[in-house]
Amino acid sequence: MDVADRVAVVTGGASGIGRALSLALADRGAAGVVVADADGPGAAAVADEIGARGGRALAVAADVSIEGDVLAVAARTHEAFGRIDVFCSNAGIIVAGGVEVHDDAWARIWAINVQSHVYAARAVLPAMLASGEGYLVITASAAGLLTQLGSAPYAVTKHAAVALAEWLAITYGGQGIRVSCLCPQAVTTNLGATSLRELADVGIAAGSGGPAPRQGAIPSRDAGSVSRQASVDGVLTADQVAVSVIDGLAAERFLILPHPEVATYERRRAEDRDRWLGGMRRLQARLAGEG
Ligand SMILES: NC(=O)c1ccc[n+]([C@@H]2O[C@H](COP(=O)([O-])OP(=O)(O)OC[C@H]3O[C@@H](n4cnc5c(N)ncnc54)[C@H](O)[C@@H]3O)[C@@H](O)[C@H]2O)c1
Repeated sequence: MDVADRVAVVTGGASGIGRALSLALADRGAAGVVVADADGPGAAAVADEIGARGGRALAVAADVSIEGDVLAVAARTHEAFGRIDVFCSNAGIIVAGGVEVHDDAWARIWAINVQSHVYAARAVLPAMLASGEGYLVITASAAGLLTQLGSAPYAVTKHAAVALAEWLAITYGGQGIRVSCLCPQAVTTNLGATSLRELADVGIAAGSGGPAPRQGAIPSRDAGSVSRQASVDGVLTADQVAVSVIDGLAAERFLILPHPEVATYERRRAEDRDRWLGGMRRLQARLAGEG
């Protein structure tokens, strides 16, 4: 899909990948961009930025873990622009730790990283199916195809997000619905800080399984291994990821892999799971040793 003259919604649009994607959609001639985020002022700032560049944008404050908020985003978009052509369900958080992470933190990351995509699909599919076309973009992660060292909640919820995206693509692909699943490795964003805020806002202390406080890095339990892990294949900017998404939409490709190495890793994982698990154990040990 060429995004020119299309109406797009981006959740998590106030920061990082969502902000870059909102700006890129507007720069490519989108008829309207709705910037939705729990950070209302942040969303408004991005909408203003789009307006200053000559684009049309609307900011909506919304917590994507609440179905009513996601429905309201869709309703406000229809009011302002008449339709939704592309819904980018992008907001997400990370929680460091393993099975010991508190149930409240597991519930919060599940609600934001998985259930929000269910709500997005419920909100937009009826109108998209009625018109015979529409595009859903789900931001998962390379962690959803492989794993996330040091974060079981992130690995598990991102795998679930990939599974949902695949299911939607299979179930509705014959009815004009396109689905892409964005799976980057490390990207320089505010993910650590915003995840801490999202947990704190609902009364979950960082000690119950919070993200490592490092900007742009994917945390593990050993905060020091974060940048080492990221450095394995390099850290992209959010703008680079946004370009990959625009290209992926144009090609209507299901998997959008800003780090192309991920395709090789996924193939190796599928070819020989035990060999791949051994390799991941060695990588984990190597990164821990580098501390
Ligand atoms: N940064 C990375 O290395 C990386 C790698 C792979 C995937 N991702 C994924 O990319 C997506 C975007 O993250 P980012 O890295 O740009 O981080 P970011 O923190 O810069 O942006 C995330 C945005 O989502 C918003 N958000 C968080 N919880 C929300 C909620 N409940 N309701 C509404 N908005 C909410 C935040 O306010 C923030 O503006 C996430 O799904 C993340 O898991 C990030």
